[in-house]
Amino acid sequence: MRHKCLILACLLLAGGMLCVADEFLHPRPMPRVLFPANGSVVESGPFEVIALAAEKEDGSFETLPLQVDGKDHPWQSYALPVCIAHLELPPGEHYLSLGIYDVMFFVAGSEITPPKDWPVAKAHAGAEAWQKCGLCHETTPQDGQTVLGMHKGWEACSPCHPASDVAAKHNHSEPPLRDCASCHAVHGATEEHLLRAPQKQLCATCHR
Ligand code: HEC
Ligand code: HEC
Ligand code: HEC
Ligand code: HEC
Repeated sequence: MRHKCLILACLLLAGGMLCVADEFLHPRPMPRVLFPANGSVVESGPFEVIALAAEKEDGSFETLPLQVDGKDHPWQSYALPVCIAHLELPPGEHYLSLGIYDVMFFVAGSEITPPKDWPVAKAHAGAEAWQKCGLCHETTPQDGQTVLGMHKGWEACSPCHPASDVAAKHNHSEPPLRDCASCHAVHGATEEHLLRAPQKQLCATCHR
């Protein structure tokens, strides 16, 4: 009897190790979530979940199942790897599951206060315009889906942030200034003015 238990235990252990080894050799690709950030506070109102499915070893992409607070939720019709869902959730704690990846976040505005160390994450203003990804990205329709391309750079920002405005608001020379995304993370930042990092740290990425 004791032997049988021992054999069983060994088999289970070996099986477990095989699984671990397999996971180690062929790790499940992790999606990248642009918004909302795990452990952050989102302002109340509608927002877009934006995620990028990870590339598998064979170069293909796996559709991520999305659950919001444990319930299945559809993605909008964008071609992989881009995954977008439009959400508007009541204040309080919520979670998303994207396959094996979980995101906990908090919608501001309830009496229950979010954990103290959770920063407020903002995305670029204008929820309605924001849904039109084509404002800033090349987009092409394909089989009833939208294929999202590269962002258009400064050209995308200039209709609303003309050069004269930008010059007035920044104390920085012109050529590096035109690469807005080098300092601003329009898809989500926890710093003021959607800066990629606290100012000192940000400047130090290019200036020593
Ligand atoms: C206001 C302009 C703007 C709008 C509108 C916009 N984007 Fe972007 N997006 C950018 C910029 C700039 C970058 C590159 C810099 C960055 O990642 O922050 C980018 C990058 C991305 C990336 C790649 C991120 C990475 O790290 O590889 C994805 C995916 C993306 N956007 C999805 C979307 C989707 C989906 C929408 C519509 C819901 C959208 N964007 C609307 C400006 C915009
Ligand atoms: C070298 C880094 C850097 C680049 C590149 C940059 N910015 Fe900024 N931006 C900043 C900093 C830092 C602030 C905060 C300004 C302050 O505190 O004086 C800011 C603030 C802003 C603000 C808010 C201003 C206000 O007073 O409300 C806007 C809008 C803005 N930037 C747009 C842009 C646009 C559009 C581009 C591209 C043309 C751009 N930025 C490129 C660093 C940068
Ligand atoms: C459709 C118009 C529109 C486009 C396109 C646009 N913006 Fe804005 N942006 C706004 C408005 C409106 C605001 C809010 C008013 C303000 O602070 O100036 C804003 C605010 C900002 C701010 C300040 C946010 C803050 O919290 O202080 C930054 C930084 C910014 N935009 C960067 C960009 C960058 C970079 C691009 C291009 C990738 C871009 N915007 C494209 C309209 C636009
Ligand atoms: C993405 C890289 C990048 C970031 C981030 C950046 N800079 Fe710069 N900065 C440059 C480049 C490149 C030049 C040189 C431009 C030129 O020669 O015209 C420059 C020039 C300058 C100059 C003029 C220096 C001179 O020799 O004339 C000042 C001042 C400056 N930056 C301050 C800042 C501050 C403050 C920040 C943070 C808010 C910052 N920069 C963030 C790239 C950057």
